[in-house]
Amino acid sequence: MLDVCCGTGLMDAELLKLVYSVVGTDASAAMLTRARARVGPQAQFLLATLPDLPVDETFDAAISTFDGLNYLTPEVFQASVKVISEHLRVGAWLCFDLHTDAMMDFTLKNAQISGEEEGHFFSIRSEVDPEQRTCSTWIAVTTTESGSHFTEHHRQHFHSDAFVREVLNSAGFTEIRIVEEYTDTPANADTLRATWISRKTQIGVTA
Ligand SMILES: C[S@@+](CC[C@H](N)C(=O)[O-])C[C@H]1O[C@@H](n2cnc3c(N)ncnc32)[C@H](O)[C@@H]1O
Repeated sequence: MLDVCCGTGLMDAELLKLVYSVVGTDASAAMLTRARARVGPQAQFLLATLPDLPVDETFDAAISTFDGLNYLTPEVFQASVKVISEHLRVGAWLCFDLHTDAMMDFTLKNAQISGEEEGHFFSIRSEVDPEQRTCSTWIAVTTTESGSHFTEHHRQHFHSDAFVREVLNSAGFTEIRIVEEYTDTPANADTLRATWISRKTQIGVTA
């Protein structure tokens, strides 16, 4: 099983209970250090920035969970799906989640969110460009007790359903199901995070 944008390996620790072999890739060395510490040597973790995918294996399935592919520009998303497909056998599965149009509307209407959770104050400010279908987000977190503070900037994309379908079809994925989060419930107009489950049924057709 291949896990792209694997982050700190949360999903890989779970996958290893179910599958024979897991390879995780991520663009962040710091995230991979945490993944290796969490999961141990049973999984292989590789530093790679999509669409680069320096793996030799052909996999039975690939996943990208909890916002990995939202970080890719449309061009990189398309190139990444193509390269992932090249590393999947015909009949293999590809499963990933993406933000939806409902999430774009929600973020537009909730540009500033703040609160306190588990001893941390947080503030999240988002700027959505509906034309470009992009979102810049600034996150600030202060630990209540120690006063330690960090900030992050994220830039994400809202890939349209039609675009994602076209990209999947071009890469040989023809059986496509879109569900609410990680449930069996079909996604609807209110779904904020949609999970795309697709099956590679033919060799990709893009150059
Ligand atoms: C929100 S985290 C997802 C974490 C993980 N999939 C999980 O379920 O816990 C997004 C991850 O995508 C990675 N990422 C973003 N752009 C990337 C790219 N072009 N290639 C590879 N990884 C990327 C980041 O380094 C980060 O670890």
